[in-house]
Amino acid sequence: MAGLLMSPLLLGVQASIQNPEVLPTPPMGFNNWARFMCDLNETLFTDTAQSMVSRGLLDAGYDRLILDDCWMRKERAADGSLEADTVKFPHGIPWLADYMKSNGLKLGIYEDAGNLTCGGYPGSYGYEKQDAELFASWGIDYLKLDGCNVWAEEGRSLREEYRVRYSGWHDVLSALPTPLIFSESAPAYFSDNASDWAVVMDWVPSYGELARHSTDVVVYEGGDGWDSIMNNYDFNTLLVRYQQPGYYNDPDFLIPDHPGLTKDEKQSHFSLWASFSAPLIISAYIPDLSDEDIAVLSNKALIEVDQDALAQQAALVSRDGTFDVLSRSLSNGDRLLTVLNRGAATATTTVSLARLGLSSESDCQYAARDLVTGEEVNVDSDFEIKLDSHATVVYRIALPESCAKTIPTGMVFNTPSGLCLTASTDQSVTFEKCSASDSQVWNVAATGDGSDVTLRPLSDATVCLAVGDNGELSLAQCEGAASTAWEHLVTGHLRNTLADGCLARNSGNGGIESCVVDSAAQIFGLPSGVRLAEGDLN
Ligand SMILES: *[C@@H]1O[C@H](CO)[C@@H](O)[C@H](O)[C@H]1NC(C)=O
Ligand SMILES: *[C@@H]1O[C@H](CO)[C@@H](O)[C@H](O)[C@H]1NC(C)=O
Ligand SMILES: *[C@@H]1O[C@H](CO)[C@@H](O)[C@H](O)[C@H]1NC(C)=O
Repeated sequence: MAGLLMSPLLLGVQASIQNPEVLPTPPMGFNNWARFMCDLNETLFTDTAQSMVSRGLLDAGYDRLILDDCWMRKERAADGSLEADTVKFPHGIPWLADYMKSNGLKLGIYEDAGNLTCGGYPGSYGYEKQDAELFASWGIDYLKLDGCNVWAEEGRSLREEYRVRYSGWHDVLSALPTPLIFSESAPAYFSDNASDWAVVMDWVPSYGELARHSTDVVVYEGGDGWDSIMNNYDFNTLLVRYQQPGYYNDPDFLIPDHPGLTKDEKQSHFSLWASFSAPLIISAYIPDLSDEDIAVLSNKALIEVDQDALAQQAALVSRDGTFDVLSRSLSNGDRLLTVLNRGAATATTTVSLARLGLSSESDCQYAARDLVTGEEVNVDSDFEIKLDSHATVVYRIALPESCAKTIPTGMVFNTPSGLCLTASTDQSVTFEKCSASDSQVWNVAATGDGSDVTLRPLSDATVCLAVGDNGELSLAQCEGAASTAWEHLVTGHLRNTLADGCLARNSGNGGIESCVVDSAAQIFGLPSGVRLAEGDLN
């Protein structure tokens, strides 16, 4: 009976990252939640759609509107179907989806994997197939699936329960004639526990196209906008390794009309999200946005970066308490440099070519364009950067053909503690507060055809991260020492292939331990573009 042994691939279940055509670049559009919460209705959506068309946002790429929680009636119909609230949506949802289509736009919707939505409306638990088919029949092509009111069935941990439900949804959505784009909120329910979070993040790229990974951005008049933006920005910097074409980390909405945000803060929000290739979903009252706000949201050069086919997420090169420096590559070979001044005053910094993984050979000259001002500069050694408080600059750097080689370069940090892997001059390795010194910036180069990488600090190009004869973490000559080969796993583990152990941050020092799933000490963030090893520890 060999015919019964079907492999999962033959069952037609395809992971989203193996099928990036469902969403080849991050979504752009509007969602009502952060601005209006439950006060949504048909007029808000039709007025917003008109405004997106007339103010040029559709032309800029913002082509979808997404209904969030509270769009439905409190009870299902007798046959179990969900029904829209007809006071809020007098013409119904299919009419609204048609309205969007006739304006060149698309409509998305919200549900919940639990018994009730976060707002107390009927959840989809037990009705997954029925609800998915209803949404598809209404002309909806995008589902944001929240995770309120989920309880684990007996014999399962809570994180296993979320996996069962979200993978079930993936199967249901994939089986539709046209699979719905699937926005997963599951990881947001685990972001306060590093090891649970890593395990949940491990599977979300296989089931959906984007994931809301941490806290909701602050709602209108709900608190300090900049603090909330920085909070979500920080969470996103921990997740670089998960993103690839077909799956995008979602640090939540753009909030350009949040009261109190300065011009620089709004620009920074957009520049950082674009550098991440994050979803660009506006939660604001678009008809009343200023022309200046619309111009920020329509910046063509930054949208090109956001929608770049490689979908790399800019990763931290260095962090010193004032400046965050981030970098990534783009599909045409260009390099991106993004610098944010988090401090309270105007300040200056320099970023060397080596920190961007670029060659500084004497004949290498790079043309760099500031993507907000359009200004071009030629650079052959250091970038000199001066930024006002909370301002961000993004340079797109073209590489001459003879200097086109790049090496993933940047911080290697234990993401739960935020501490940086630091090379000492005595060959030892420690975890220290990040200070942006050369001993905390690492070249992470691929070696050979396998999945091995080596880690070499900029402070001493002759040594590499290694495991010593007594199993201790050390720095050894890069050439010839077998113990300098590491594998980076999607869960954040750095496994030494010879010692068969994982890098760990234990009480301030670096060490090697047996690799285990549930250890916050073994989870690391690396530069973007680092090759990942197949498989995981689960
Ligand atoms: C629709 O919602 C908007 C935003 O909450 C509100 O200002 C408006 O009064 C509502 N319109 C109707 C017809 O309910
Ligand atoms: C959630 O719904 C399921 C299925 O209808 C039911 O068995 C369970 O008791 C509900 N749980 C709670 C806490 O309401
Ligand atoms: C995080 O979750 C793991 C696995 O579910 C558990 O073993 C660990 O105790 C939790 N850690 C904290 C700090 O709660």
